Amino acid sequence: MTLSSHPPLFGRRMGRPLTPAKKELLTTTLPLLSFSVPENNPLSLTSLFPTQAPLHLEIGFGTGHHLLSQLLGNPEDNFIGCEPYMGGIAAFLKKMEGHSVDLARIKIYTKDGQSLLHGMPPHSCTTLFVLFPDPWPKKRHLKRRFLNQDTLAQIFRVLTEGGIFTFASDIEDYFEQVLKICHAMDSLVLETQGILENTQETSQRPLHWPLTRFEGKAHREGRICNYASFKKKTEKILDKSL
Ligand SMILES: C[S@@+](CC[C@H](N)C(=O)[O-])C[C@H]1O[C@@H](n2cnc3c(N)ncnc32)[C@H](O)[C@@H]1O
Repeated sequence: MTLSSHPPLFGRRMGRPLTPAKKELLTTTLPLLSFSVPENNPLSLTSLFPTQAPLHLEIGFGTGHHLLSQLLGNPEDNFIGCEPYMGGIAAFLKKMEGHSVDLARIKIYTKDGQSLLHGMPPHSCTTLFVLFPDPWPKKRHLKRRFLNQDTLAQIFRVLTEGGIFTFASDIEDYFEQVLKICHAMDSLVLETQGILENTQETSQRPLHWPLTRFEGKAHREGRICNYASFKKKTEKILDKSL
């Protein structure tokens, strides 16, 4: 699929009016962190980050609970957060203000995650997260779901050998669909899979970071959450399986 044939971006770019402080962050801090993806060449990570380090990418970070916890937990690494919703980006920037984060380590892409994936160089991400992507439950909207055969092939392409893709969803058929596509890719192996029933304490979930906003909402509303991580096999293991 070429860039121009991508389906349009669905979902909201703007929400409720922002507070003056958040508006200010979007006009002062965001331009320092945002970047665009060149149309024809892969994105140059060396021009994006002053220091070479493992790169972590989160697509659809919402208000950034998880992204911030990863940033704070991996103080030497580089991060890209992708989120088209301006209210979410502003909330993330506000949260980040309360911590001493080296801004050279974090970049924000404010457009569609598909165009980012297509522009990323191969084997560039150590970890890639898509947590609680928009569910689009109606049959006629299924094609709008972010994770599909094409995006998962791109995710696989941009992962480093040994890199980890983690996703979570409270929509069972979406989760199963992603699981099926990942299992069909010989070079991805399931690392961890977990489920949190609505009767369980959230402390029993198989993740080591704070609840994301949508995850918290799913628990409060009694929906079951599913989590899975896949690892990209190394060339060595791939050779053996040929
Ligand atoms: C259901 S929310 C989950 C947000 C967050 N991950 C969480 O768990 O709280 C899905 C997020 O994906 C973002 N999103 C939707 N389509 C996207 C796309 N094509 N590329 C990147 N992000 C997208 C939305 O703006 C929204 O913030």
